Amino acid sequence: MKVREILVTSALPYANGYIHLGHLVEYIQTDIWVRAMKAQGHQVTYVCADDAHGTAIMLKAQDNGITPEEQIATVKASHEADFAKFLINFDNYHSTHSEENKEFSELIYRRLSSAGHISTKDVEQLFDPEKQLFLADRFVKGTCPECDSPDQYGDNCEVCGTTYNATELKNPQSTLSGATPVLKTSKHYFFNLPEFEQFLKDWTRSDNRLQTSVANKLQEWFEASLATWDISRDAPYFGFQIPDTPSDEPDKYFYVWLDAPVGYMASFKNLCDKRAGTEQALDFDHYWAQENEHKTEVYHFIGKDIVYFHALFWPAMLAGSEYRTPTGVFAHGFLMVNGEKMSKSRGTFIKAETYAEHLHPEYLRYYFASKLSDKVEDINLDLEDFMQKVNSDLVGKVVNIASRSAGFLVKKYDGMLSEVCVESELLEDITKTGDEIAAAYENREFSRAMRLIMQCADKANEYIDAKKPWSLAKLEGTEQEVQDVCSVAINIFRQLMVYLAPVLPELTNNAKEFLNLDDLSFASRNEWLLGHKINKFKPLMQRIEEKDIEAMVEDSKASLTQADAPAATESSKPAAKDKAPATNADAEQTDYIGIEDFAKVEMKVAHVLECNHVEGADKLLQFTLDVGEDKPRNVFSGIRKFYEPEQLINKKVICVTNLAPRKMKFGVSEGMVLSTGEPKTGLTVVTLPDACVVGDVLA
Ligand code: MSP
Ligand code: ZN
Repeated sequence: MKVREILVTSALPYANGYIHLGHLVEYIQTDIWVRAMKAQGHQVTYVCADDAHGTAIMLKAQDNGITPEEQIATVKASHEADFAKFLINFDNYHSTHSEENKEFSELIYRRLSSAGHISTKDVEQLFDPEKQLFLADRFVKGTCPECDSPDQYGDNCEVCGTTYNATELKNPQSTLSGATPVLKTSKHYFFNLPEFEQFLKDWTRSDNRLQTSVANKLQEWFEASLATWDISRDAPYFGFQIPDTPSDEPDKYFYVWLDAPVGYMASFKNLCDKRAGTEQALDFDHYWAQENEHKTEVYHFIGKDIVYFHALFWPAMLAGSEYRTPTGVFAHGFLMVNGEKMSKSRGTFIKAETYAEHLHPEYLRYYFASKLSDKVEDINLDLEDFMQKVNSDLVGKVVNIASRSAGFLVKKYDGMLSEVCVESELLEDITKTGDEIAAAYENREFSRAMRLIMQCADKANEYIDAKKPWSLAKLEGTEQEVQDVCSVAINIFRQLMVYLAPVLPELTNNAKEFLNLDDLSFASRNEWLLGHKINKFKPLMQRIEEKDIEAMVEDSKASLTQADAPAATESSKPAAKDKAPATNADAEQTDYIGIEDFAKVEMKVAHVLECNHVEGADKLLQFTLDVGEDKPRNVFSGIRKFYEPEQLINKKVICVTNLAPRKMKFGVSEGMVLSTGEPKTGLTVVTLPDACVVGDVLA
């Protein structure tokens, strides 16, 4: 067999947030593929890194009162810890904020520039005069120029679907400061993507590099015609400065997406340097030099949302700077939970960390494997199905084979397996199925691989059920037969461990001990275990209990809302009652508070995005409020008796935003909507004039 030299990457997670189950679809998919290819005997290197640059990370660090460097260091450590828990076996994990990345980004840029692929153009953009920075589309809100809906982001209107330029918005506002942005012109640097159109068309259609649906998408983009790509950003920006710009002009920075994919190379280079002089030494040029395009293989695993960057910009950048292009780009779909988009209020927006506190990561690895294919389809984590499938396939079928047969062998035969296999046809069949399983892994048809493996497990269980070693053992003169039957079962179990090793590295590693083996490579299965001694069997996997899933969902509701809430400094205090605050209090009964106490209450202008009845709660309405933050807030209010939801949708109301999040039976309430009146006799929600700016603080 020819040993293939393969470099594999997963997309680099942003350094401004935690890893959640959605991300894990990708890292688990990639890790399984890498392990399967390694088990085939190929030389595979898997690298990744944190994507550390950009405005969002800069602002996040500001919010947290730390430097961007501190921000990215903390997040990187937490990402690495999460990945380790889920057994993601990177050969290297680096950062795009690194020396290597700076060197390669500059080098690639300089090569593109000297080949004439970079141009400059003046760009007029919205500028926040308070924050003193240019505003990316998502930091501008205003009224849709087409349908006049208020509170629309700078790129498209969620109400009528029109896409436009942020400069076309009516009454634009900076979501960072609330200030009215001004138009300001600055010079930008562009990558001339259209110059690569023919190259990209050929590249897309050659060598099976892309999935069909991705290639078709690219075809649409070609038909709509390619545009030059703006690769520069003005200061302040957390990133690398663009080299060789005129010294009398303000500094320019690479847009984060310019240096992000270069991070793949940088992480690999970092690994080459670490391994230099060792047995595992790697040569950078062997993988990245243009002339080696057909000697080594490079694959990028990505989500469907970032195809544009990986299948257009990246190959063009590489080709234009005389590097090799990827052998393949593999896109996967998005994760749904219980058939819906992940939702914080339903507790299905689950952090990797929260999951791992309640459930074994290998359950999820198996479940994802059983769902993943080579298609760009979304995958659904149905929590009920998850529990059933793991319990019935892994615990009920696979582990059961060993637990049913190991006892006899260890107790009565000192752990020795028979010298001959009495069911060589069955075992041969299962050994042969291994070739199909290996092919399914390689083609990223993991769900097919899992189905084939479970069919093998079914055959083993049928065999054991038919032979009934537990009954046989009670009869006279059956010693040999009992040993033979159990030996067949253990041999099949061992094949299954080989097949499942890429998905369940920990379980299969423990099984290796029990089976007294030091190798679970694919080839190892061809040699059956005859006259081989095994060790005492220890349970390899526990069943998933419903209560663990419930606890994880509950924790997710609580942990996410708390983490996202603005500094809830008073969170140790008991939460306020779910009622409107008493106003117009009788002066004689008033306990005066000082202005500093009043100042502790943060009230903001909120826009009611959604208002709904709450099933099972006849006093509550549920609000989804935009209070000018990244994510809307979920707030419950006891006004059901006085309003129909429609009356409040689209209104501007007052929300107390620094109230400690409060867990209720129906979800977590992340604030309070102010009303006047009496909960018994009638409440009136305080609404504000339309001119009030969402997110503004009331004082
Ligand atoms: N930083 C960029 C990638 C740069 S690669 C040079 C980025 N980061 S991300 O953190 O937003 O996403 C990392 C990967 O996780 C992406 O491939 C993305 O598609 C994937 N996913 C993020 N959320 C996901 C789901 N909910 N479901 C499935 N995959 C998801 O994009
Ligand atoms: Zn509109």
